[in-house]
Amino acid sequence: THNIKIAPSLLAADFGNLQRDVEMVNNSEADWHHIDIMDGVFVPNISYGMPVLKAIQKHATKPLDVHLMIVDPDRYIKTFADLGASVLTVHYEACNHLHRTIQAIKAEGMMAGVAINPHTNISLLEDTIKDIDLVCIMSVNPGFGGQSFIENTYEKTRTLKAMIHGKRAKTLIEIDGGVTSKNAKALINAGADVLVAGSFIFKSDNPTQTIHELKEILS
Ligand code: DX5
Ligand code: ZN
Repeated sequence: THNIKIAPSLLAADFGNLQRDVEMVNNSEADWHHIDIMDGVFVPNISYGMPVLKAIQKHATKPLDVHLMIVDPDRYIKTFADLGASVLTVHYEACNHLHRTIQAIKAEGMMAGVAINPHTNISLLEDTIKDIDLVCIMSVNPGFGGQSFIENTYEKTRTLKAMIHGKRAKTLIEIDGGVTSKNAKALINAGADVLVAGSFIFKSDNPTQTIHELKEILS
C-alpha cells in the first residue's frame, strides 16, 4: 500500500517520563506525534495545554499532529503555529465558520485538519473538502484514550474516500480511536492514510516493536 502514516497518541504516554516516550517515537518507525488538546468543555476531560506541548516540541523530531478538542479553536491558531504544529485539526462541531477557520490555519503555514465526531455525517464536509488537508474520522467519542472502536467507521471511511475522489481533492483520511493491529488493515483498505494509536502502542510491552508491527501490517 501507499505511504501509510502511523501517529502515536501521546495521551497514552507516561507523563512522568514524557521525554523518554517522545524519544521512543523519534527513534521508531512512526511518522507523526499525535497531540490531543482537551479543554473540559468540548469534551468531558482535560488533557494538557501549551506549556506541556512546548516541552514535547523541545524533544520531538517528527511533525506534530495537533488535535484540538476545544471550543472556539480560532482563538489559538496562531499560538499552536508558534508552538510548532505541522497539522492543526479542529472539530467540525466546534466551528461556526469552518471555512474561515481552515483558511486561518493554512495562512499560518500549517496543514488544516477537520475532525468529525461519530454522530457527524460525512456529507457535511462536501462543500469544504477541497480546502481540507486532512479529515480525522473519530472512531470513538473524543475525550479519552482506551475506548473501543466504533464499527461504523469503515463505512464512513469508504464514503469519505469516494467523496474525495469525486471532488478530485487531495485530502488525507486519519482514523483516531481504538486502532489496533486487528482493525488497521481493514481501515487502510477502506481508504485511511493515517492511523492514530494511543493505548495499543503505549500500553504494550514494547512500544517500538508495536509500531514496527503496525507498519508491517500496512506495508
Ligand atoms: C481521543 C483522542 C485519541 C486517543 C486515542 O479523544 O483523540 O487520540 O488518544 O487513544 P486510543 O488509541 O487509546 O483509543
Ligand atoms: Zn486525537
